[in-house]
Amino acid sequence: MDPWWRHAVIYQVYVRSFADSGGDGIGDLPGVRSRLPYLRDLGVDALWLNPFYPSPQADAGYDVSDYRDVDPRFGTLADAEALIEDAHAHGLRLIFDLVPNHTSDQHPWFQAALAAKPGSRERARYLFRDGRGALPPNNWRSAFGGRAWTQVADGQWYLHLFAPQQPDLDWTNEDVRAEFRSILRFWLDRGVDGFRIDVAHGLAKDPAMTDLGHGQATSGPAVEGHPHWDLDEVHDVYRDWRAISDTYAGDRTFVGEVWVADPTRLARYLRPDELHTAFNFTFLLAPWDAKALREAIDESLRAMSEVGAPATWVLSNHDVIRHVTRYGGGATGRRRARAAALLMLALPGGAYVYQGEELGLPEVEDLPADLRQDPTFWRTKGADPGRDGCRVPLPWSGTEPPFGFGSGGTWLPQPPDWSGLTVERQSADPASMLSLYRTALRHRAALTALSPGTLTWLPAAENVLAFERAPGFFCVVNAGERPAAIPPAVPGELLLASDPLTDSRTLPPATAAWYRAEATT
Ligand code: NOJ
Repeated sequence: MDPWWRHAVIYQVYVRSFADSGGDGIGDLPGVRSRLPYLRDLGVDALWLNPFYPSPQADAGYDVSDYRDVDPRFGTLADAEALIEDAHAHGLRLIFDLVPNHTSDQHPWFQAALAAKPGSRERARYLFRDGRGALPPNNWRSAFGGRAWTQVADGQWYLHLFAPQQPDLDWTNEDVRAEFRSILRFWLDRGVDGFRIDVAHGLAKDPAMTDLGHGQATSGPAVEGHPHWDLDEVHDVYRDWRAISDTYAGDRTFVGEVWVADPTRLARYLRPDELHTAFNFTFLLAPWDAKALREAIDESLRAMSEVGAPATWVLSNHDVIRHVTRYGGGATGRRRARAAALLMLALPGGAYVYQGEELGLPEVEDLPADLRQDPTFWRTKGADPGRDGCRVPLPWSGTEPPFGFGSGGTWLPQPPDWSGLTVERQSADPASMLSLYRTALRHRAALTALSPGTLTWLPAAENVLAFERAPGFFCVVNAGERPAAIPPAVPGELLLASDPLTDSRTLPPATAAWYRAEATT
């Protein structure tokens, strides 16, 4: 049998916005525990939790001050251990978020570095450099806006590719390497099934720290030759980590957050002795257009097959505009999102579902400035609205905010019209987005058992995608604006459609359908 991570559906739990048990308006680990039955019944295989470690929350937990504990906002270490146990009892695996590129500025190492002298062992764990006269060491930019260097009292500068509260570690330093080996073991010993690696393409930096050249941006997928993204040296780190995870029983896994433009470069992270999988941002970034989607799918499958790794598919996460909104918003966006879900879940490999997409939540675009928390918003003085709009707490039940999220409000306001999008409302409606995800995931589980992990394209009209995914299982997507006939090469019975069909051989616009040669499910 294939290891689970080759075809898993992994649900992303953005802990602070999932479910609040403490009544402070912020989701927490006991909240996640209390909703495990919901996740089991949804039909996912595993959960990826965004960081819940002690953190000043300068970047929603991606500024970690202690990698071996739980922030009191989110619970205790005992809660994390209980969550691992309970999740396993519900048949769900758990992936934690590892943040190796940078620590918090409140991490004891960085505090010690500030107190120490230039050239000291404490400073050598980070990237402290002298400036060029009064100027910073080079022209690198923070991904959140502004420069990537901050000056300390004695005149040296330290590098932070994100917020100043997130100093970058120096991955050529043996203290750093040893510390992360130990952190991995700490959680692996507690039974965690894997790690999502934050900024996995960023750990190695050009030792000469050359200036960013023309066309070399900090944000957006990395292109070759960049001085701090996707350097060859990062691969040593992943080989080292893989050797550790392989000593544990139970198919522990790594998924890399690797923003690179070229799928062939992405595949290098997935060589057999490195990471197991990586997020597929090419698919996420593709517009709602059959040609673009097909290209993204083909490129990904081709690049992954070169290294024997499974592809993964993702439509949304906590860093991007929710796809209902990206695909046009309103009724159009919802329809396309329903069709996209059936497309994604029919593709070979793993899939990621970001919490709330199964409810069809749109981006919340009108959050008041004084409630926004994302450093991107503040560092660009509002020019970039940032990522708070996709992080609004989930609506569970009831008719008004906080919609069953907890007893103490929500850290970001929920739109009142989410009353129609709660889990409670959608569970009772067979036509809801939630019902579609539940049904699709149930069929997918049966499909995974048959599937060879390949896909064969079938001839189809313009703006229609049609493929056979496993013997006798077909997916057709009409990404166009007009009804389209189901291609003759697709036989069989309609299994599931993202929206009602007027007849079983015609797909309305923005609709996807699954067909099965013989009806056994
Ligand atoms: C990627 C994470 O997904 C994002 O939320 C975070 O701000 C950056 N890495 C920095 O850690």
